[in-house]
Amino acid sequence: MNISAVRGFRDVLPQESAIWQELEAQARRYLTAYGFAEIILPVVEKTELFARAIGETTDIVEKEMYTFTDRDDASLTLRPEGTASVIRAYIEHSLFHKEPVSKLFYIGPMFRRERPQKGRYRQFHQIGAEILGRDDPLIDAELLLLLHDLFTALQLTITIEVNSLGCTLCRPRHRESLRTFGESRLAALCANCQARLQRNPLRILDCKEPGCRQATADAPMLTAFLCPACGEHFDRVQAYLRQEQVCFSVNPRLVRGLDYYCRTSFEVLAQGLGAQNAVCGGGRYDGLVAQLGGPAVPGIGFAIGVERLVMLLQSHERQHLLHPDLFIAPLDERAETYAFSVAHRLRQEGYYIELDSSRRGLKAQMRRADKLGARYVLILGEQELAVGKGTIRDMQAKTDHPLAVDLTLPAQKMMESIQLKNI
Ligand code: HAM
Repeated sequence: MNISAVRGFRDVLPQESAIWQELEAQARRYLTAYGFAEIILPVVEKTELFARAIGETTDIVEKEMYTFTDRDDASLTLRPEGTASVIRAYIEHSLFHKEPVSKLFYIGPMFRRERPQKGRYRQFHQIGAEILGRDDPLIDAELLLLLHDLFTALQLTITIEVNSLGCTLCRPRHRESLRTFGESRLAALCANCQARLQRNPLRILDCKEPGCRQATADAPMLTAFLCPACGEHFDRVQAYLRQEQVCFSVNPRLVRGLDYYCRTSFEVLAQGLGAQNAVCGGGRYDGLVAQLGGPAVPGIGFAIGVERLVMLLQSHERQHLLHPDLFIAPLDERAETYAFSVAHRLRQEGYYIELDSSRRGLKAQMRRADKLGARYVLILGEQELAVGKGTIRDMQAKTDHPLAVDLTLPAQKMMESIQLKNI
């Protein structure tokens, strides 16, 4: 019997990985422009890290983590997200002593045992960014601007939704009011929400069950409970965004699925993805560094879901694949041996060369060159080798030119004369 990939774990085939690389390159470009540096983190952490950071009563920690006992009885977990690891590393390496503000980004796989469906996998990838050390609204707006710029560069139409989750001052009053509200609708809530209501009432706003969504439609929202400082913070974030003409809407129901958030929280949504339409999520987490044993340093960040974005970019039917700089079509074995060294010399200099070793006729090789989108084809046959010249076919102009250049010329010179048809 054939062995297939594990449910929820998938292969990324070349057509898709080309888009993936383009997305990653654009993200790196914008992250660098905004002053972020890369941090490369392990995929396995102590289970306790996620339980403490993400929250014991979240779906992720309650039901979705890949947790195992190591041979020394330590409980370890495949990371379900990157923020907890960044903060663990930030504290472990005392990064707060080195820089007043740390701007870090990471790219890599995350693992959550969710029910797989379109756009939702058990291994997925995130491009995440965190800013540690600043709590002013300008920073929140800057992070959202970065996302706006990146999605604009990718020519994607998205919606940014923002909300404020308040602080330790304003949250308790909201929790109390939400708990009372939940108790009054207890019978309409799902078993999970009923169980969580006492410990973490905010979770009832995040439940995806249609019954719970209906029952909580008129639940008290945090925006009505914000203290003056949180209210002003939120107003200023919005004013900065308006100043830079960033479109956004306030969604008072947006509570996010992780417990560490406070104040500004946001999600980026895209059309055409079905139910899994969030391509990015993030927000402020001012108490988290201290909660994990570090100093009282504020933080904010986001994570982009790579698979979902790649799906969107694919649906745009753009040509993302790299095209060969040159396709070499040898017509017999001797020409093939010769072509082998020419291709090697050009590749050494970084040119993308396709060498057809199928020994098929010229017509079939031309069809393949066309399919790959090669602009130039170098034809080498008995005749060509006899006179020491190749023939260059310009696939766009559909013309042939004898190539008088010495095929032993340095790679760059050879490519230049091919491109300029310097014959
Ligand atoms: P999150 O909302 O859980 O936030 O995940 C961020 C993004 O990862 C989602 O918007 C989605 O695009 C993608 N994603 C999540 N789960 C899956 C899945 N099962 N399959 C495919 N894609 C998925 C976080 O992880 C926070 N750490 C973000 C953050 C950083 N907050 C502050 N800093």
